[in-house]
Amino acid sequence: MKTYLVTGGAGFIGSNYIHYMFRKYGEDIRIINVDCLTYAGNLENLKGVENRDNYTFVKADIRDREAIEEIFAKNNIDRVVHFAAESHVDRSIRNPEVFVETNVLGTLVMLNAAKKAWEKPDGTYMEDKKFLHVSTDEVYGSLEEGDTYFYETTPIDPHSPYSASKASSDMLVKAYIDTYKFPANITNCSNNYGPYQFPEKLIPLIINNALQGRKLPVYGDGKNVRDWLYVDDHAKAIDMVQEKGRLGERYNIGGHNEKQNIEIVRTILDTLQEMLPEGDPRKALVSHDLITYVEDRKGHDRRYAIAPDKIKAEIGWYPETMFKEGIRLTIQWFFEHEDWMKNVTSGDYQKYYEEMYKA
Ligand code: NAD
Ligand code: DAU
Repeated sequence: MKTYLVTGGAGFIGSNYIHYMFRKYGEDIRIINVDCLTYAGNLENLKGVENRDNYTFVKADIRDREAIEEIFAKNNIDRVVHFAAESHVDRSIRNPEVFVETNVLGTLVMLNAAKKAWEKPDGTYMEDKKFLHVSTDEVYGSLEEGDTYFYETTPIDPHSPYSASKASSDMLVKAYIDTYKFPANITNCSNNYGPYQFPEKLIPLIINNALQGRKLPVYGDGKNVRDWLYVDDHAKAIDMVQEKGRLGERYNIGGHNEKQNIEIVRTILDTLQEMLPEGDPRKALVSHDLITYVEDRKGHDRRYAIAPDKIKAEIGWYPETMFKEGIRLTIQWFFEHEDWMKNVTSGDYQKYYEEMYKA
């Protein structure tokens, strides 16, 4: 039985990945979820798995070398799937330091701890040990209309403090692969959406605001393009890369699903109208009149678009969930989890929202 150490498993993608892995492998794997529970980490995301005998939660910070080394020392870890990070671009523009501390230094701690646990005296590694670093397409910078796609060979050119910190962590993983022959892969994925996404991000923010008849803030001209991927498809890709990918390689993951932000907002409004039953008081609140163009994000990347050709050709992964279906699944999940939304938007979120959107 393989033991997985998942970092950041109480966040959006990490929790979806853990649910996915237990659905796929059941009792055949063991997962240790290491998360320090920042504002973005929420143990409610793991309801349904927390009582499993083959699941353990450890509250620890990836910057804490001793705590991470102790987890490796006490457990025979076979797979590391490293999600833990500060993940929101707007927050990185306001407070870059923690992005460097967690995303760069935290990744270094994870690499060193895994290397220490897995390396044999002759410099080779124990058999079948693998580290997967979960990264983002934002490290490639920004495409303009007319440019093609981000490939694995596209030069790294990050613009925000967030993407600079992720690019730095990618480079550290690459350095460990190149220097120490460390058994790792890097994946660079496009924008995810789905259940458990924190409503600082575009899609859950728009769903939450629209259902309350609140303004829908669209940055700049609303024509920035993102390439949306349903989170379950990402979870599947990560598992496939780790089991079938060539060690040391980088794989891009994306949905071939480019959309302008304004198109996303309009689709959410139309889908909410279709899905809300007649007589539901929220139906009267959901309106295109709520769309409000606001000041643009500083250094706002214009377009992201992934070419997932390599992962398809080598590993056989391709995105399965069409956006039309994925957005309905997401909205349905938010309808069924009103308490989740209430809980995560109480307290600190209010302060963040008021400060961020005060203009
Ligand atoms: P998230 O913000 O929802 O979750 C991050 C998790 O990491 C939280 O549970 C948080 O508590 C934990 N964490 C943060 N700092 C930590 C620390 N110092 N020690 C331990 N745990 C810590 O993020 P997400 O959207 O789920 O993203 C997960 C990963 O995927 C990140 O590495 C991100 O860069 C990458 N990624 C995200 C997207 C996306 O669209 N969301 C796309 C591509 C790649
Ligand atoms: O591309 C992958 C990245 O996707 C991940 O690495 C990041 O962790 C993740 O946060 C996401 O980054 P983005 O900045 O693309 O996502 P966000 O949801 O913040 O914004 C999506 C687009 O919507 C972006 O062009 C900015 C715009 N936007 C966002 C918010 C929150 C708005 O117009 N209004 C908003 O209120």
